Amino acid sequence: MAPGTARRLLLLLVWVAVTWAARPDLLNICMDSEHHKTKPGPEDSLHEQCSPWEDNACCSFNMSLEYRKDISYLYRFNWEHCGKLKPDCKRHFIQDTCLYECSPNLGPWFQKVSRGWRRQRLLNVPLCKDDCQDWWEDCRTSYTCKSNWHDGWNWSLGYNRCPANAACRTFDFYFPTPDALCNQIWSNSYKVSNYSRGSGRCIQTWFDPENGNPNEAVAKYYADRSGAGPSEAWPLQFGLALMLLWLLS
Ligand SMILES: *[C@@H]1O[C@H](CO)[C@@H](O)[C@H](O)[C@H]1NC(C)=O
Ligand SMILES: *[C@@H]1O[C@H](CO)[C@@H](O)[C@H](O)[C@H]1NC(C)=O
Ligand SMILES: *[C@@H]1O[C@H](CO)[C@@H](O)[C@H](O)[C@H]1NC(C)=O
Repeated sequence: MAPGTARRLLLLLVWVAVTWAARPDLLNICMDSEHHKTKPGPEDSLHEQCSPWEDNACCSFNMSLEYRKDISYLYRFNWEHCGKLKPDCKRHFIQDTCLYECSPNLGPWFQKVSRGWRRQRLLNVPLCKDDCQDWWEDCRTSYTCKSNWHDGWNWSLGYNRCPANAACRTFDFYFPTPDALCNQIWSNSYKVSNYSRGSGRCIQTWFDPENGNPNEAVAKYYADRSGAGPSEAWPLQFGLALMLLWLLS
């Protein structure tokens, strides 16, 4: 091998190593948003339904108290826009909020967005099939007026109300299947998994902290598999590397 070639190869290897090391870490991180802590850490006591995350949480005690209120100061969002939800149904929305606010294991599904109050959102979190099924079963006879709860509300009073043309009907009218509910309600934040709780391949909205947090292994599995590898700027960096090699040779 000519000395020049060896040098180029070496440079290329160094570059690949540096890029790899610089890839954004997807594990044990909090969403970049107004209401999340900057780093996960222990919390002495969280609201009951958020308590599984006490060992390592992205939410604080203060905030976890807000989640059970009908209209919390956090998002001014009213789950009960068509009258009271059945208590069993409401429980799932609180649990969903606990997962969203407290979990440090959702990094593989963060997406950048440009909206005032948040810089990241979730996309396609593989929610355990049975968690979604239970959510749907417990909510199907409660009422709502929309199948996408992210957008399209009337905010004129400072909290969300049904838009003029949206009638209140049972959940199973707007969400005919469990998948329709879990995937559509937060515009694809979740993508219901084929896997069930305990499989290590799907995110659980609830777990027994005695046995650790099962979502850690799930996040690791998908982070490794996503081969996120070199950062998103990979093509740019590749081009720069080629230029560098050419200049140095
Ligand atoms: C909890 O709430 C108090 C009063 O609203 C606030 O001053 C404090 O910073 C909050 N703590 C955390 C960890 O958010
Ligand atoms: C929102 O609600 C207010 C008050 O009820 C109403 O006047 C207004 O037309 C509504 N706006 C939309 C976009 O539906
Ligand atoms: C989930 O399972 C169903 C039925 O077994 C299958 O048709 C579908 O392709 C599977 N989806 C994924 C994402 O594996």
